[in-house]
Amino acid sequence: MKPVQRIPIKTASRNYNVIIGSGVLADAGPLLCRELRLPAESCVVISSANVWKHWGETLAVSLDAAKLRWNKVLIPDGEPAKRLATLESAAEQMLAFGCDRSTLLLAFGGGVIGDIGGFLAASYMRGLRYVQIPTTLLAQVDASIGGKTGVNLEAGKNLLGSFHQPECVLVDPDVLSTLDHREYRAGLYEVIKSGAIADAQLFFHTEVHCDRILARDREAVLKCVEDSVRVKGGVVSQDERETGIRRHLNFGHTIGHALEAETHYDLLLHGEAVAWGMIAAARIAADLGRAPVAALDRIQKVVLSYGALPAIPAHDSNIVARVASDKKTVSRTNHFVVVPQIGRAEVVSNVPQDIIAGAVAYVRQLSHPQA
Ligand SMILES: NC(=O)c1ccc[n+]([C@@H]2O[C@H](COP(=O)([O-])OP(=O)(O)OC[C@H]3O[C@@H](n4cnc5c(N)ncnc54)[C@H](O)[C@@H]3O)[C@@H](O)[C@H]2O)c1
Ligand SMILES: [Zn+2]
Repeated sequence: MKPVQRIPIKTASRNYNVIIGSGVLADAGPLLCRELRLPAESCVVISSANVWKHWGETLAVSLDAAKLRWNKVLIPDGEPAKRLATLESAAEQMLAFGCDRSTLLLAFGGGVIGDIGGFLAASYMRGLRYVQIPTTLLAQVDASIGGKTGVNLEAGKNLLGSFHQPECVLVDPDVLSTLDHREYRAGLYEVIKSGAIADAQLFFHTEVHCDRILARDREAVLKCVEDSVRVKGGVVSQDERETGIRRHLNFGHTIGHALEAETHYDLLLHGEAVAWGMIAAARIAADLGRAPVAALDRIQKVVLSYGALPAIPAHDSNIVARVASDKKTVSRTNHFVVVPQIGRAEVVSNVPQDIIAGAVAYVRQLSHPQA
């Protein structure tokens, strides 16, 4: 196996490592035993039929090699499955397998499995130890790190959940080879985001190596994953509960969330909505004089270089109204993360409605080039 990178995450509630390496999945069992100093213990793997079909055998063989006793619970993934009912049925199956407080839970899948698995670990018998083994690019660079877990309610996303940090995160970029192209690209916009807010060199990498990254060149992808994990890890290590700098990770998310909600979470993938949101936030920053137009140009150019994004079939006024009702719009004050210079972020508040409306119109027109 090739060398692995260990990126430490240090939060008030727990210190742990993100272990990144090509092929680590095949070594997951022995690696976890060493990393967590496990006695021959029982594990439960939470995954989906789709992820298991591609990569289950590899994980199973490695758990057996480490002589771990394990069971698996397959649950549906995709956003509609991120509901309390899915968690309840998984918990019933865990109970039937005899899982108790000593069971180690392995959340093996994309961000949906990670968020449900993490919440299950936080709540099953009042809390289990767990490990994230993310299998989508979005989950590898973002969702699996930082301990945010939860499910959606009818009224909105992630409204029920808790902070529960994993014992360890195992990231094998090789599993991305089976990921659908659209899902893969959606994760890349979070990589671009990480570069824009905190790592100018990573941003540059996404600018100059677009073709290699789109072709999933192993080395180019590994750099995207490692550097994004460093950015996310650095931010959550400073601010576990999102009272300050963790907000910077929301670059592109204020308008992105509004676009997702306005299109009922079924026309745009999260990363695609964030892609439009980053361009809109860069437009806002330029219009407010908080960033040079050159920053908008670079952000827009790199985002669009990864291919056409889905059009935005929503009315500008509805999108602007959604921004005003966002759960992070505290006490009627809106907040936008802006990038005054590539590699640095800050928050601006109380952005005037006409500036937001202008930015929304700007991206909607970009999304309908012939209109
Ligand atoms: N907790 C956090 O901090 C955080 C951060 C960002 C996003 N999220 C959450 O993450 C979720 C989105 O995650 P996602 O984009 O990974 O979606 P997802 O988990 O629904 O996975 C997308 C699709 O990819 C498939 N898939 C997963 N791994 C695969 C592989 N290796 N090969 C082939 N197919 C594979 C899945 O079966 C699914 O169909 C959202 O619910 C979002 O709220 C959480
Ligand atoms: Zn995001």
